Amino acid sequence: MSKAIQAVRGMNDLLPDAVERWQRIESVAREVLHAYGYREIRLPIIEKSELFARSIGSLTDIVEKEMYSFEDRSGENLTLRPEGTAGCVRAGIENGFLHNQIQRLWYAGPMFRHERPQKGRYRQFHQIGVEAFGIESADLDAELIMMCARLWQALGIDGLTLQLNSLGTLESRAAYRRDLLRYLETQRGRLDEDSLRRLDKNPLRILDSKNPDMQKVIAAAPSLYDHLDDASRGHFARLGEYLRQAGIPFTVNPRLVRGLDYYTRTVFEWTTERLGAQSTVCAGGRYDGLVEQLGGKAAPAAGFAIGMERLAELMAQQTHQYPEAQPQAYLVALGEAAEKQGLALAERLRDAGLRIECNCGGGGLKAQLKRADRSGARHALLLGEDEVRNASITIKDLRDGVQRSIAQGELIDLLLKETPRGATP
Ligand code: HAM
Repeated sequence: MSKAIQAVRGMNDLLPDAVERWQRIESVAREVLHAYGYREIRLPIIEKSELFARSIGSLTDIVEKEMYSFEDRSGENLTLRPEGTAGCVRAGIENGFLHNQIQRLWYAGPMFRHERPQKGRYRQFHQIGVEAFGIESADLDAELIMMCARLWQALGIDGLTLQLNSLGTLESRAAYRRDLLRYLETQRGRLDEDSLRRLDKNPLRILDSKNPDMQKVIAAAPSLYDHLDDASRGHFARLGEYLRQAGIPFTVNPRLVRGLDYYTRTVFEWTTERLGAQSTVCAGGRYDGLVEQLGGKAAPAAGFAIGMERLAELMAQQTHQYPEAQPQAYLVALGEAAEKQGLALAERLRDAGLRIECNCGGGGLKAQLKRADRSGARHALLLGEDEVRNASITIKDLRDGVQRSIAQGELIDLLLKETPRGATP
């Protein structure tokens, strides 16, 4: 036997059990997003490499080390998107729907980063992303966060903590960067290898180092908050008020700086203790400078993205069931006449909106009932020679084994009554 080919490292198959969990997240997310007036946009997976260098920042880990970039057959430098914000802004500028307009948009799909794979961190991963353009005030930041909170609640997920920070304007951040650098230079001897590497390029990222040995250096660093301009301070204070009013608890984390350069003012992350090291399930913030930076007419903007793999893992830990993905009944057909009538009967049941799985491929009663059990259906519908002759059907409740015989004409009403569509068991 020749050696079987395996998937690319860090890129996963999603098997049906997982897909059903994902579909549940997607449909609830769609409902929540639509309830706030967000509309879906679909964007290419490949963009010009330059787009990411100009938005995420050429000195970030993502752009420096993690992009899947290649030259295509016509010599263009292209990249598999590592995130969705840059492409969304590009599309907005190109299609002219950002200028003087309010746009609330969302997207979902795969993203690619050549990171070291581990639990919760993959090379192909998926996001549901949300971006809002044209609103500068903090009520929008609050609305984005409230929308997340509503989504967690609708999915039955608890234990997520909200961390907030403000990075100020690009100018106030530049002033802070200078002060921080001055301080870090005095600490050079105490910096670890990672921090030394970041020192010249991206010193703010040193602040979110997880190395315990670095915590003392970080704790004594000048505070970003002290460097905030007055307008950013006011913005942040208003956001806090809106969230308190909405009853959403949060922690201000002055070390939260994010790994992408485009953020201004508000940044936030939703984290959990249930996922180990990769604890951030959702992250985002404001990026008021990005539209202009990418060649559009200046427009304020803010958004976030949810990591699907991490959210789905949280859902899996909470043992939800997804009845809408399971058949309501499994049709067992014994003998040729029953098989023929069974297929037609199943079609009529589906016409009435029921989910029916047919036993195709024959087999004895015992084998078919075993499959019925495995299908997750509530009922088995038994169709044998007698039933065909009498236009009747035997219904077996697979939870308690109780069996009864009824006329086929009564079947639809009975199934609709006993297994309402998508009802939670
Ligand atoms: P990000 O923090 O790079 O932000 O990613 C957002 C979320 O995507 C993370 O919190 C995490 O849940 C998930 N994620 C990121 N990388 C991986 C990975 N390698 N494997 C699994 N999950 C991952 C952004 O991408 C911004 N575009 C968010 C945003 C939208 N900001 C404003 N608008």
